[in-house]
Amino acid sequence: LGPKPLIGKRVLVTSGPTHEPIDPVRYIANRSSGAQGTAIAAALRDLGADVVFVTGPASVAPPAGVQVVAVETAQQMLHAVEAELPVDAAIMAAAVADWRVENNFTQKIKKAPESIPILTFSENPDILKTLSSHVMRPPLVIGFAAETENVIKNATAKRARKGCDWIVANDVSAETGIMGGTENAVHLVTMDGVEDWPRLPKSEVGHRLAARIAEALT
Ligand code: C5P
Repeated sequence: LGPKPLIGKRVLVTSGPTHEPIDPVRYIANRSSGAQGTAIAAALRDLGADVVFVTGPASVAPPAGVQVVAVETAQQMLHAVEAELPVDAAIMAAAVADWRVENNFTQKIKKAPESIPILTFSENPDILKTLSSHVMRPPLVIGFAAETENVIKNATAKRARKGCDWIVANDVSAETGIMGGTENAVHLVTMDGVEDWPRLPKSEVGHRLAARIAEALT
C-alpha cells in the first residue's frame, strides 16, 4: 500500500454528542468532546479518503479538509447519515443520546416554584444498528462501546446486537481520565477476536484505526 491507500474511498464518521432539546435554551446530552472521532476523521483524510464528518455539537473543532455536516439531534444525525450513502466505510464514534424529550417546549419554560416541569422521553433511533441492516449498508461498519465495566464482554455482545463489523471498545470509568482527555486505551473487537491496544494518544488511535480500515478496504 502506498502512502494514500484510501484515495477514491468515501468514508463517513459520526462524532460528538447529540443535543436533545427540552426547550429553546435547555437540552439533555451525553458527555463527549468529539476528540476521538475528530482524530479518526483526520487520520482517514491523511490516508487520502474523502471524509464526510457528521458531527453533533462537539467541543473540539472538526478537522480541516473534510466535508462537515453539523447536526444537533439524533434524528437529524440519522437523516444526515442516510443522505450520505453509499459510503465504503462508516465509523460511528458519536455519543448519541438514547432518548429525546417527548414533551419538549417551543418556548422557554419559565421558572416557577409551583410548577416544576416533568419531562417524558421517547427512544431515539439507533443510527449504528439502522446502518448495519440498511439496504445500502457500507461494506465496513464500525461502532464504539464506551463501557465502565466488563468492557470486552459488553463490547462483544454489542457487536452482535448492532450487526456491525468491528467495535472499538474503551473503558471510560472516571479514574481512567479518558473521557475529555488526550489518550485512549482501546480494544478492537472483530469477527476474529479481540486485540488489546496500548494506551495511546487519541491521534495515534486514529492513525492505527485508519490503517486497519485501509487494509480492510484494499
Ligand atoms: O448502545 P450504545 O450507545 O452503547 O452503542 C454505542 C455505539 O452505537 C456507538 O458506535 C454509537 O455511535 C452508536 N449509537 C448510534 N445511535 C444511537 C446510539 C448509539 O449510532 N442511538
